[in-house]
Amino acid sequence: NKKITIPYLQNRYKNNEPITVLTASDYPSGLFVEKAGIEICLVGDSLGMVALGHENINPTTVEEMLHHCRAVARGAKSPFLIGDMPFGSYETGPTDALKNAIRFLKEGNMEGIKLEGGAEMTDSIRKITSVGIPVMGHIGLTPQRQSSLGGYRVQGKTAQKALKIMEDALALQESGCFAILLEAMPEPVATTITKKLNIPTIGIGAGNGTSGQVLVQQDMLGIFDRFVPKFCKQYANLDKIIIEAIENYRDEVKSRVFPADENTYPMDEKELNNFFE
Ligand code: KIV
Ligand code: NA
Repeated sequence: NKKITIPYLQNRYKNNEPITVLTASDYPSGLFVEKAGIEICLVGDSLGMVALGHENINPTTVEEMLHHCRAVARGAKSPFLIGDMPFGSYETGPTDALKNAIRFLKEGNMEGIKLEGGAEMTDSIRKITSVGIPVMGHIGLTPQRQSSLGGYRVQGKTAQKALKIMEDALALQESGCFAILLEAMPEPVATTITKKLNIPTIGIGAGNGTSGQVLVQQDMLGIFDRFVPKFCKQYANLDKIIIEAIENYRDEVKSRVFPADENTYPMDEKELNNFFE
């Protein structure tokens, strides 16, 4: 596949072509994103839940993220690679934000970063983009703030709250974001924001009027045992297939059907006789 760059993405956006984004958390899931021809691969901090089993995403550390970023980058060679800044790695100020953003490029082999928040984050975003690191914004439902949001709930349902999201989107654009992720909001809000901006929006639970879509890979493949959000379409139920395969293996070991001859190394007859002597 052809390497995806920022100019390529800008071109898609100008031609009104939806931009495809999917998360990955390790080498095989990165390879799936590569082989399916997805344009942006996001190493989302949701991996703290779907790959590491944390209750929520806030325990996820920079070190954990970098470890997973490196693995994804080995598999996803063509997609544009974005690393998700975890909770606590950028909120303390522009210097910390830049320092950790640089780590995602140097140690994580990413090409850009994503961070959550609106107007309050623009100083940090300005700092990061000023040295040539592409930043994707993230507003609406921001999972790192789920505690103060009262859980994973749709955002921007009143005119006043929708206006606040719109203001945040404009502030993020102004501070240099190359794209903005819009999560869990009514379609008219996301569509109106998309029309107002001159950078692409990537939607998740934000309807069909955004410039692109993103899903969490484990959710859309059906390999996560917990809550599947309303906005996630499950394109497969892989957990069923995987568990059936492992149960078959278990039964064949118990019944000595596995390993069969074709899974077994033979030994030369003469050598075997010498061995038995
Ligand atoms: O961490 C994540 O997977 C995200 C989703 C919104 C795509 O940020
Ligand atoms: Na995230």
